[in-house]
Amino acid sequence: MSIGKFITFEGGEGAGKTTQAELLSNALEKAGIETLQTREPGGTFGAEAIRDLVLEGTSDRWSGMTELLLMYAARLDHIEKLIKPALARGVWVISDRFADSSMAYQGHARGLGPHHVKAVHEAVMEGFEPDLTILFDMDPVIAQKRVEIRGENLTRFDAENLEFHKTLRKAFLDIAKENPQRVHTIDADDTRAEVQNNILFALTKKFPDLAGKVGA
Ligand code: TYD
Repeated sequence: MSIGKFITFEGGEGAGKTTQAELLSNALEKAGIETLQTREPGGTFGAEAIRDLVLEGTSDRWSGMTELLLMYAARLDHIEKLIKPALARGVWVISDRFADSSMAYQGHARGLGPHHVKAVHEAVMEGFEPDLTILFDMDPVIAQKRVEIRGENLTRFDAENLEFHKTLRKAFLDIAKENPQRVHTIDADDTRAEVQNNILFALTKKFPDLAGKVGA
């Protein structure tokens, strides 16, 4: 039985997930809760090696199914070696992306088809899922501008066109609709402080014991 909580941040690129993961981690630590921040693909030595394989190179480097299997290979290593052991110690784990990204990116935006993703997901995950997922929703045009302004290195995913990002957004919103108990959608175009408040609000709603301890 795990005693920590598993929280995932999902959404398109340029939505500010990484900054907010840091802010949430700080808020929980202040409330006396030990946290672990991690990311996907990645988080363990093996999964970070797979990350390099999957994020570098041209967009046709891998077929859709190969890419999906690489994502799930990385994910399983991450779950077995980092996430589950941390939860068992009572640590709250915050992951920048998790399985919803596979459904949205590989299943929909990259066109593999949701049924393939579901099949692999069920075979690998054995019912393991986040306690809470925060979906950072934003108009892709605004998100793309943010990424450009930050002048970040474009991974082969960022280089995809606007249509791709629109499909991605819809896929994430559909996941949220199908999983209202687990997924909480926030407007990622709000100010940093507003977004942070909305995340803390979602957390205290989901975990009422936190009320009054994390500033929301
Ligand atoms: P990253 O630079 O971490 O992007 P971001 O800051 O937007 O999270 O790169 C991760 C990329 O991997 C991102 O474009 C989404 C993609 N991805 C998938 O396609 N499938 C997955 O299952 C995961 C976890 C990520």
